[in-house]
Amino acid sequence: MTLRLASPTLDRLPEYAAALETGWSPSNERDVSGEQLALYRRDPAQLLHELTRQDGTITTGTGLVVPRLPSRVFWLDDGEFCGVINLRWQPGTDALPPHCNGHVGYAVVPWKRRRGYATRALALILPVARAVGLRRLTITCDDDNEASRRVILANGGIFEHRYPAATGETKLSFRIDLETETRPPH
Ligand SMILES: CC(C)(COP(=O)(O)OP(=O)(O)OC[C@H]1O[C@@H](n2cnc3c(N)ncnc32)[C@H](O)[C@@H]1OP(=O)(O)O)[C@@H](O)C(=O)NCCC(=O)NCCS
Repeated sequence: MTLRLASPTLDRLPEYAAALETGWSPSNERDVSGEQLALYRRDPAQLLHELTRQDGTITTGTGLVVPRLPSRVFWLDDGEFCGVINLRWQPGTDALPPHCNGHVGYAVVPWKRRRGYATRALALILPVARAVGLRRLTITCDDDNEASRRVILANGGIFEHRYPAATGETKLSFRIDLETETRPPH
């Protein structure tokens, strides 16, 4: 089945909520499944607004409340909801603020893993990153997250350094040069 990136929509929000109901969290920084589910039950349109809004603040993994960066969020779609990938950046620069652990975050629901979907989703978001003016992506993963490490490497990721994150984990930081053409995996 072909994977595509789809914009979140109200008519498909029940599929997203069904994933939250299993305890799956779209964020790796913080488990947001309970709070998003509560909002969905109260006001589905408000949840959609929260998922896609460009203003306001976000709470980081360490509980810091910071301004929301410009972002694009997509659902991974193979005909069914498979997960999320998002891109965030600072306009006019490839640099990120210190609280932000990378330009891209992704999470695949457990029942759709090991099908190459995260690898493909990262490949599909690279043109989006180029289109918003980025020339180089920073992507990080926990040092024991072998699956994510492979996803990044398969997309041309170059290991840069290892660092202790504010949330306590050891992270690996990679860069992907967007000005170099890479052959898409799969
Ligand atoms: C990490 C994650 C996104 C990978 O999604 P996925 O769709 O299963 O990944 P892929 O199918 O594209 O697999 C990528 C590679 O990792 C390998 N892999 C997948 N799951 C693995 C696991 N549990 N252990 C070791 N390797 C694994 C695959 O075999 C593949 O390797 P290959 O390229 O050498 O063939 C998914 O496990 C997930 O959502 N985890 C929780 C959230 C998370 O960690 N997000 C990333 C934060 S940086």
